[in-house]
Amino acid sequence: MQPKSSIVHLPVYQPGKSVDEVKRELGLDRIIKLASNENPFGCSPHAKEAMRQEIDNASIYPDGAAVALTAAIAEKFNVDTNQIVFGAGSDEVILMLCRAFLVAGDEQITADQTFPQYKHNGDIEGAVTVEVPLKDGTHDLDAMLAAVTERTKLIWICNPNNPTGTIIGRAELERFMERVPERVLVVLDEAYCEYVTDESFPDGLEYLPQYKNLITLRTFSKIYGLASLRIGYGIGHPDVIRLINQVREPFNTSRFAQAAALAAVHDQAFIEECRRLNAEGIRYVQEQFARLQLSSFPAHGNFIMVDVGHPAQQVFEALMRKGIITRAGHKKYPTNIRITIGSREQNEAMIEALEASLAEFKVGI
Ligand SMILES: Cc1ncc(COP(=O)(O)O)c(C=O)c1O
Repeated sequence: MQPKSSIVHLPVYQPGKSVDEVKRELGLDRIIKLASNENPFGCSPHAKEAMRQEIDNASIYPDGAAVALTAAIAEKFNVDTNQIVFGAGSDEVILMLCRAFLVAGDEQITADQTFPQYKHNGDIEGAVTVEVPLKDGTHDLDAMLAAVTERTKLIWICNPNNPTGTIIGRAELERFMERVPERVLVVLDEAYCEYVTDESFPDGLEYLPQYKNLITLRTFSKIYGLASLRIGYGIGHPDVIRLINQVREPFNTSRFAQAAALAAVHDQAFIEECRRLNAEGIRYVQEQFARLQLSSFPAHGNFIMVDVGHPAQQVFEALMRKGIITRAGHKKYPTNIRITIGSREQNEAMIEALEASLAEFKVGI
């Protein structure tokens, strides 16, 4: 057999252990998962009700064009319906962008520590991903511009950036968009944008009328609390959206996902409350890190990257033994772990476990 040469070296995605597995293996009653930036407050009760109501339609294919949800998003953001495309999570929109734009030998530009799916999907298409070092944990847009060549097709900006949580501001984005060649598509991944409270944060949608070569990605997996349903979307120029639709599978988002997302969009009170509780959680965690003399990156999403002053994998394992699952393995930041902001109770348990773990390694003593 002769598989694509671009994929034979790729690792198979290794999902983290499930909560039940960790409970069983470690003999723990309680596990707190702060590893995947899920919403600790769940989702809107209206979304749950909408899912229940779809059960009797489970045997019927979903609306492939997601007409009702598209109309709701178009109205919410004051864009045309032909500017929106849905995916099975924004993961699938990332995949479709690579599928639509990249062939072997093309180049794309990302930060060197960012959401890994940009490079992963580029690799599958045989494209070269040029990874530009983050500066103080933040996208270095000048260096990314300097990396543009004749072969560059896509530039990925994750704002806020996963895993560092940092943002680029309006002025930086504007300067960048003015200078980037029109033939290069800029993908602004705003998976965590609803959490941001910083005034300088740019809303990617504002720039769409001006720049045909800009697309913003959003998701129902984070603040909307619907990660298991797999639904996210891109908003961009109709020509770009049409190209993505040309490679889209006919029924790529489920009935349950569409119905829940539609109900969730109409419950903005839930979103505001989650944003408020998350900001409170960030303040609490930052205060505790200061007490423990740990430095962390500015956190603008629903997670925080903290330097634990010790090999991250060991601290990750020590936390796991205490029932707290976090995320290590960030190649550029080997002593940092990324922790999702949880509920107040979860955050307190995490801090207690972190303090005990650091004492085991004699960090800060
Ligand atoms: C920056 C970023 N983009 C996209 C995604 C994909 O999210 P989903 O496919 O659940 O919409 C994630 C998930 O963690 C993310 O952190």
